[in-house]
Amino acid sequence: MSNSSVHAAAPRPLNATRPQGPLTGRVRVPGDKSISHRALMFGALATGRTTITGLLEAEDVLNTAKAVTALGAPASKTGDVWTVIGRGVGGLKQPEAPLDFGNSGTGTRLMMGVVAGHDITVTMTGDASLSRRPMGRVLKPLRQMGLVTQEDRDTLPLTVRGSSHLIPIEYPLPVPSAQVKSAILIAGLMAAGETTVIEKEPTRDHTERMLRYFGARVETRQHDGLTSVTVHGDAELEGRHVVVPGDPSSAAFLICAALLVPGSDVTVEGVLVNETRTGLYTTLQEMGADLSFENEREEGGEPIADIRARYSQLRGVHVPAERAPSMIDEYPVLAAVAGFAKGDTRMDGLAELKVKESDRLAATAAGLLANGVCAGVEGDTLIVHGTGSVPGGAYVATHLDHRIAMAFLTMGLASASPVAVDDTNMIATSFPEFRSLMQRLGASYR
Ligand code: S3P
Repeated sequence: MSNSSVHAAAPRPLNATRPQGPLTGRVRVPGDKSISHRALMFGALATGRTTITGLLEAEDVLNTAKAVTALGAPASKTGDVWTVIGRGVGGLKQPEAPLDFGNSGTGTRLMMGVVAGHDITVTMTGDASLSRRPMGRVLKPLRQMGLVTQEDRDTLPLTVRGSSHLIPIEYPLPVPSAQVKSAILIAGLMAAGETTVIEKEPTRDHTERMLRYFGARVETRQHDGLTSVTVHGDAELEGRHVVVPGDPSSAAFLICAALLVPGSDVTVEGVLVNETRTGLYTTLQEMGADLSFENEREEGGEPIADIRARYSQLRGVHVPAERAPSMIDEYPVLAAVAGFAKGDTRMDGLAELKVKESDRLAATAAGLLANGVCAGVEGDTLIVHGTGSVPGGAYVATHLDHRIAMAFLTMGLASASPVAVDDTNMIATSFPEFRSLMQRLGASYR
């Protein structure tokens, strides 16, 4: 069964209720999704063997593993270790069948950057959610570099043709998107000269860090309040060993649940704490959350820590727009938490939430309102009027969006009445262990 058809499977609703007691324990979450995609793709572009431990084995990443395999760089697992046999920069081959990226915007957009630098034609497909998402944001710069699309549209399915003679560009990002930045930088590896991406708000920098680790020349400069990242073309990458740290976007649900359920004390070990990803944790601390970062260390060129969260009385805060890129995937769960805080939480600069796996701004606001939380959207701002408690009791529409499902399944652990979601199948795209890990801490789902 293809991953796209998994999402056509019968919906599996789930109900979250207040557990009998506090949530407690020490757990690990699966590997970071962003780093997992990149490890597979850079391994495919490197010469020799890349080994990866801690790879996230969720549908999104497994689709990327299948894609690199189909492009001639086999990715496989033996024991706990994934191995990718690289083909060298520019050395991938034309796949025999369309590549199905399932639900994954990251897999699709970064792979467009990979394909751009090869003389191959590739058809890319995805599920209903992915087929609605904008690809023009990556296609526009990649077309300037030399990528050609067969169709005259900017949504999947698309057939793209790359070129072994890419033109380097200098590109100011019109949207704060690490996916767009990464697609251009990856294509830039295969261009003749220097390719530069300029960003107003810094986005996650895993591509830059990992490309350097694989041996590419990548320079990051700050100037006039902007960040410029330059990659040198005609690059050579060398196979490496990558250790994937725990995903802070998955840990977010466990941490938030611990903050909401009285008496809880939970530690999530080995979580990535790269500051381009920790906006949620900063915000929770400003709300009064009892969070501590223990055993801070570095693994595979990324900072990690054990994050301990204890039940806390929270207050509403203002989350500034410039923080959005560092917590873009965490707004649904933050909004759920904000319902339990006392006072208003105002989250500015959320335009990008409208083009995620669903329109997350609308889906989050609708879920809050259905559960008796007073919330409103004003332009790109979400305002949640927290009263210290949440009535709950609703059946939430998830719109094929894993993070909407997990956010409301977190809310239901502390609301007065249970909260149900209409489907949980798509949680497997990013965090298949969500339910079992939450239950191990003491959460109650039926
Ligand atoms: C990602 C970047 C973010 C994020 C996504 C993963 C990445 O998207 O929402 O889950 O791995 O680069 P944008 O960069 O498009 O905001």
